[in-house]
Amino acid sequence: MAYYVTTPIYYVNAEPHLGHAYTTIAADVLARHMRQRGEDVFFLTGTDEHGEPVALAAERLGTTPRELADRNAVRFRDLAQQVDATNDFFIRTSDEQHVAAVQEVLSRVERGGHVYLGTYEGWYCPRCADFKTEGELIDGNRCPIHKIELALEREENYFFRLAAFQEPLERLYAEHRDFVRPENRYNEALAFIRQGLNDISLSRSQLTWGVPVPWDERHVFYVWFDALLNYYTALTYARPGEDLTGRFWPATVHVMAKDILKFHAVIWPALLMAAELEVPKRLFVHGYLLMEEEKMSKSLGNVIDPFQVMELYGTDALRYYLMREVSFGQDGSVSPEGFETRYTTELANEYGNLASRTLAMVARYRDGMVPAGEAPEALVRDFAGLDERVRERFDEVAVTAALDEIWRLVRRLNQYVQDEAPWQLAKDDDAADRLDQVLFALAEGLRVVTVLLHPFVPESAERLLAALGDEDMSLDRARFGAGSGGTRIGELPPLFPRVARAAAA
Ligand code: ME8
Ligand code: MG
Repeated sequence: MAYYVTTPIYYVNAEPHLGHAYTTIAADVLARHMRQRGEDVFFLTGTDEHGEPVALAAERLGTTPRELADRNAVRFRDLAQQVDATNDFFIRTSDEQHVAAVQEVLSRVERGGHVYLGTYEGWYCPRCADFKTEGELIDGNRCPIHKIELALEREENYFFRLAAFQEPLERLYAEHRDFVRPENRYNEALAFIRQGLNDISLSRSQLTWGVPVPWDERHVFYVWFDALLNYYTALTYARPGEDLTGRFWPATVHVMAKDILKFHAVIWPALLMAAELEVPKRLFVHGYLLMEEEKMSKSLGNVIDPFQVMELYGTDALRYYLMREVSFGQDGSVSPEGFETRYTTELANEYGNLASRTLAMVARYRDGMVPAGEAPEALVRDFAGLDERVRERFDEVAVTAALDEIWRLVRRLNQYVQDEAPWQLAKDDDAADRLDQVLFALAEGLRVVTVLLHPFVPESAERLLAALGDEDMSLDRARFGAGSGGTRIGELPPLFPRVARAAAA
C-alpha cells in the first residue's frame, strides 16, 4: 500500500531549531516503520521560500530573498540529513517546476469559478503572512503573535471563494472522523469551520517575491497557497520524467504542529476540492516542545541545541529522547536534564547494557554462538501480540505510544536477566540446558525489540542486529521465536557510551 508522509515546509527566514528537527524526526520514524512493513513509502520535507516573511528578513539582512533562501535551504537540508531522515525528496518552493505546477493548479481553480478580483481591506501581519480579524488584534492594533503594529491595508487582491466550501468541509469532517488527529484538533478545526468562513486573499500585489499569478502578472500568489501546494507539486517532479501523483496522491498523513492547523485543516482541503483533487487522508497535529523554562544544566546549557546533542550523544539519542519524552500529539517540556536522565537510565542502562551483557555472556559461556533453544513460556506470553500492538499504534500515528509498547519489553528483558541470573547458571554444569534457553531467550528478545526500535534509533539498531548475526529488519521478523538461534555474534562497542561532561562544558 502507498504511504505518503510529509512535514511542513519550513520558512527559510529563520535557522533550523529543535522544533523543526522534532517534526522531521517523527515523520521519519513513520516512514521507516512503514518501509519495514513493506509499504510503498514516499516521505517529503523541504523549505517554504516565498512571501513577506522571507522578503522582509532578506531586507533586514541587506541581501536578496533568493540569496537568503539559498543559504538557509541548505541548512534545512543538512538538518534533515543530520537527524538521519530518509526523505525521498527535498522540495524548495523556489524550484521552477514547483512554480509552474502551482500556476497550473491555481489556473484550474480560477477557471472553475472559485476566484474573483476584489478589494482587501484589513489588518495584515507580514511576519505571520496572515490576516487578522479585529478581534484578534491586541492593544494598539498589534499582532497577537509578533506584537508588531499592523497597518490597515487596502489593496486589490484576487480572492478565493472559501466561504462556498463551508458545507463541503462540514461534510468532509462528518464523513471522515479521523481527518484530523488528535481529536481535540479535529474539534477545534470543525468549530472554526462552523463559525462561518470568509473568502480569503489568494494574491498580493505589493510583493514580487512569490509565484506570479499567470492571468495577471501584477500579482503573486499569497504564500500559503504556494506553500500548501508543495505536497502535491513535489510528486510531479521529484523523479524526473515520472509523475508520482497516481501512486502517492492523496497523501496518507501530513504531520505538523498546531500553529498551522487552520491552513491545513480548512484552506487546504477547500483548495483541493476547488482544484478537483483528492483531499489528504489525515492530518496529524503534534504539540509544541516547550524549551525555555528550564534550569541550567552544566553540560548542555539551558536549552537543547539539537546540533550539540547530536554531536555529543549521537543522532539516535536525540531521536529517541524526542519521541519518548513528549507524548506525540501533546505539548511537553524538554530539557537538558531530562535528556541526560533518559540517555543514562534508558538508552545506556536499560538497552545498551542489556545488549552488551547478552553479547558478553554468549561470547563467554557459549563461545560466541547463540544457542538454538526453546523459547521460555513466560517470555513468549509477554511478547505475544507486541508487533500487532506496535503496528496499531503506528496506524494511529501514535509514535510515543508505539515506543512505550516496545520499551515495556526492553524492561521485561532486564527483569528476566535478573530473575534467571545466567552468571549463576554458568557455574552449574547441570544447568547447561537452562543456560542455553536463557541465552537464546535474551538474544531473541533483544533482536525482536531491536527490529521494532529500528525506526527510532536506526544506526544503533543496525549495529546491534549485525552483532546478533541476524540483520533482517522487516517487521515480519519482530516476533519472538522468529529467530531460531544458532547465529554467530560479533563485536559491539557500547551503543550509548558515557559522555564526558567536560567536553560539553
Ligand atoms: O509554518 N515544537 O514554517 P515554520 C514543535 N512555512 N514543533 C515545532 C516547534 C516547537 N516549538 N517550532 C516549530 C511554517 N515546529 C510554514 C509551513 S507548510 C505548507 C508551511 C515545527 O518554519 C512544527 O512542525 O514556522 C511547526 O508546524 C513547523 O515547525 C513550523 O515551521
Ligand atoms: Mg512559524
